[in-house]
Parts: sequence; C-alpha cells; structure tokens
Amino acid sequence: MIPIVEIFPTERQKLYDRLSDKIEIAYNLSRKVVSFQANKEEPIYRWFKYKEGFSSALVKYFLKEYSIKPGKILDPFAGTGTALFAGQELGWESFGIELLPVGVFVMQSREAFNNIDPDKLRGIIKKMWIDLGSLNEYQTIINHISITKDAFPEETEIFLNKYLTYCADLKDSNIQTILKFAAFSVLEEISYTRKDGQYLRWDARTKRELAGKPFDKGKIHSFEEAVRNKLSQIVNDLSPIMSSSLFEQFENKPQVKYPVTVKEGTCLEELPKLKSETFDFIITSPPYCNRYDYTRTYALELVFLGYNNEAVRNLRQTMLSCTVENKGKIDDLKLFYESLGKIDWFDKVLGVYENSAAMAEVNTILGKLNEIDKLNNSNIPRMVRNYFLEMCFVIFEMSRITKSGGYCVMVNDNVRYGGEEIPVDLILSDFAENFGYKINKIFVLPKGKGNSSQQMGNYGRTEVRKCVYLWQKR
Ligand SMILES: C[S@@+](CC[C@H](N)C(=O)[O-])C[C@H]1O[C@@H](n2cnc3c(N)ncnc32)[C@H](O)[C@@H]1O
Repeated sequence: MIPIVEIFPTERQKLYDRLSDKIEIAYNLSRKVVSFQANKEEPIYRWFKYKEGFSSALVKYFLKEYSIKPGKILDPFAGTGTALFAGQELGWESFGIELLPVGVFVMQSREAFNNIDPDKLRGIIKKMWIDLGSLNEYQTIINHISITKDAFPEETEIFLNKYLTYCADLKDSNIQTILKFAAFSVLEEISYTRKDGQYLRWDARTKRELAGKPFDKGKIHSFEEAVRNKLSQIVNDLSPIMSSSLFEQFENKPQVKYPVTVKEGTCLEELPKLKSETFDFIITSPPYCNRYDYTRTYALELVFLGYNNEAVRNLRQTMLSCTVENKGKIDDLKLFYESLGKIDWFDKVLGVYENSAAMAEVNTILGKLNEIDKLNNSNIPRMVRNYFLEMCFVIFEMSRITKSGGYCVMVNDNVRYGGEEIPVDLILSDFAENFGYKINKIFVLPKGKGNSSQQMGNYGRTEVRKCVYLWQKR
C-alpha cells in the first residue's frame, strides 16, 4: 500500500496555495466574540445557554461593517436565533431555518417575552405557586426515551410533571410558553446529567447502570428551587427599568422592527424552495464536522418537548451529517430535487462536489486510514463525505438566494482525523467559488483549537484553523 505521505504535495496544499492570500488572522475577532460567551450580558442568553451559538456582537459587527442599510438576512442553521434577533435589533428583516426543536422553542419563547408585562407575570407566578401546592392530580407529561431514563430524581420528576400539567391548562399562550421555558432552562441542573462534549455525562447517583469512573456533578437542585430561581431571574431582567432595552441594551432602536420569521425543518429542503436573489446577508454557523450530536446533548430538552425514541432517531438522521451515525441523504435529495423539477440543480451540485480534487483526496486518505485502522471509528469517512456533500448543496442554495453584491458569513472549524487535517475552510470556499461567490476573506481566529490528547500523542500538537469566512455574491 502507498504510504499516506506519498500523496504530497497534496491537492489540499494546492488549494491552500491558491487561497492563501485570502486567509488572514483576525485579531479583532476573539474566540469570545465568535462563541456564545460574549452573549452573557443579554438576558435571554443567560436564561438558557446554547453553547453552540455565536455572539450577537459578531453578527452586528458584520452587518454594520459590510452593509450600508438594513435589508433581508437569513440564517439557515438558526440555532436559538442569535443572527436573526441581532439583525432585527438593527432593523433587518430576519428569516431563519432550524431543525432542532430546542432552538425553535427558544426563538418562540423570545417572542413570548416581547409580548408580556412583567408585573402581570409576577402576579401569575405567585398564584401558580399557591395553586401548585394544592394540585394533587397530574399527568405524566415527560415520557422518557432510552437515553434519558432515570435522568431526574423521583421527586423532581413528579414536580416537573405537576408543573407541566399546570402549564398545559393555562389559557394565555405567552404565559404558558414563558413558564415552560423556565422549566426547560433548568433541566440540566435538576438532572443527573451534564452536557459534556459530545454526550451527556451521568452522575453516579442515578439509578441507571453506568460503566466507567464514577462522576459527581456536585449539587443537584430540586425542581422547585431551580425553577423559582430561574423565574425570579427572568422577572428581574424583564423589570421596567430593563425592559425598555431588554434585548437592545447597546443599540439605538431601529425605526422599523420586523417580526422574525422562523421555519422549522431541514435547510436541505427549505432552501431550495426560496426564491433566487432574495437575501442581502446570510450569517450562519452550520454544525461542525466534529461528531457532535445535538440530539444526544439535548436529549432531555427533546423529551421535554414531547419527542419519543423514534422522533429523536428521525431527527438525528435529518440533521446535517456530522456524527458517525448519520447515513447518507443523497438518494432522498435526488428525489426531492426531482419533485421540485430542479434535477439540473442537483446535477450541478453533485458535479462540483465530484470535481473537487481536495475533496477526493480527503475521501481517499480517510479510506486508506480506515483500512489500516487509524481512525477511531470506521464511519468517519462516511460522515466526512456526507458532511461536505450536504454542505455543497447548502452553499449552492445560499449562493442562489443571495442578491448580487450580498454577503455570506460562515463560522466553522477545521477538523482533523487520524492526524490528517481536513481544511473545511478551503474546501467549502472552493465550493462557494464554483457557485458564484467571491472569497473575500477567510478570517482565522488568533488561537486555533488543539488536538484531542490522543491525537497529540500520536502526531504532535498542531492547531486546526477556526474561521469566519466572508464570501460575496458576484
Ligand atoms: C452551530 S449551531 C448554530 C447556532 C446559532 N448560530 C446560534 O447562535 O444559536 C448549528 C445549528 O444547525 C442546526 N441544524 C443541524 N442540521 C440542520 C439542518 N439540516 N437544517 C437546519 N438546521 C440544522 C442545529 O440544530 C444547530 O442548532
């Protein structure tokens, strides 16, 4: 077999050489600004932490720097809506697509917060605690799935169900959403689990049988204590002094505030339905090609929102391929484009993917590494292949619906498998060029991400680029 290194100088190197003048270290884009951490000052992000998010500051920076006036903005991987609400604050018309109901629920809750009088809410909460004290009959609203079973202490489970039974009977849908949101936001702290990298980590106090070293997450709050704290945090933040500037603390209010439009579904099927040349700006961060499984990390929240085993499995398969469990979607995509009468679009995307020499090289190398058992999961090559194939469709569609002169800003990390760097920034930018975007910049965050300790042992410490791409429609 040919040793892997003999493929050098690689197609990836050639691509790097071609695009290297676009790559620029962006000292003004700190890790904090790019990640959700810079959102801490804004109430909604304190109430529910979506660690996969980016910051409103990042969104506002690009909108202000690259646009003369507000227009239409889209985020096809909207998450909890950071781009959409930051855009709204600056007077943009915001559109989002999000598949995970967790993000969709947070966005709906944001609308509910905008429509509520804090004094009324305070009164309702007071009454609720009195009513709950005498509520003996309740329904089992939380129906666990295999990966969440025994996640809560028994008394927590009972109280949570009582609380949700109470919420279900409320007439005012804004109040109902807000009270549900408060419970939704404390699920992790009242449970035996901790969101930890790719999985939920389980505390040894659960009834569940666990393997490996016992883990103690520290204090596990009672439901009542946690939800009381959350509600008082919310009410305080919503109080009159703050509410006038609740989500707009640092901005002048725009003259027009458009409602945010969110479509729940997969962008692989929603983008093709949108009219060409519609958006002035796309700001987005897709899942990274890093095996992170949103459906496992957010399993408690999914169960809370009524998802059963089958629904979670379907959701996992519909997500953009970024876990080793994802199966390919290409056959379904073909049928879908056929049903739209757009098979020529499908063929075009596939052609660009198949013509990418760097992509072919990555696929070949991962295949070889798999043969010699150098990958820690044999489905990594499939995941990577499908990740890029699906992103190729997303980028084609994004370019199609961006107005001429409009921008796409994308936050994404490069990755490394079996010691081989996969230049996500370069390959995706190459796709983008093929579909009519000009690559203005590939901004690299000053400090890249280290390797996993296992990989460091084998290959030495090198860093993969963590980037923000800036593409402009020709
Ligand atoms: C990196 S996060 C984006 C976070 C967002 N920028 C924010 O600030 O909240 C990527 C998002 O893509 C969503 N996603 C994954 N596959 C999707 C698909 N096929 N269509 C739409 N959204 C998808 C995930 O649920 C996740 O919320």
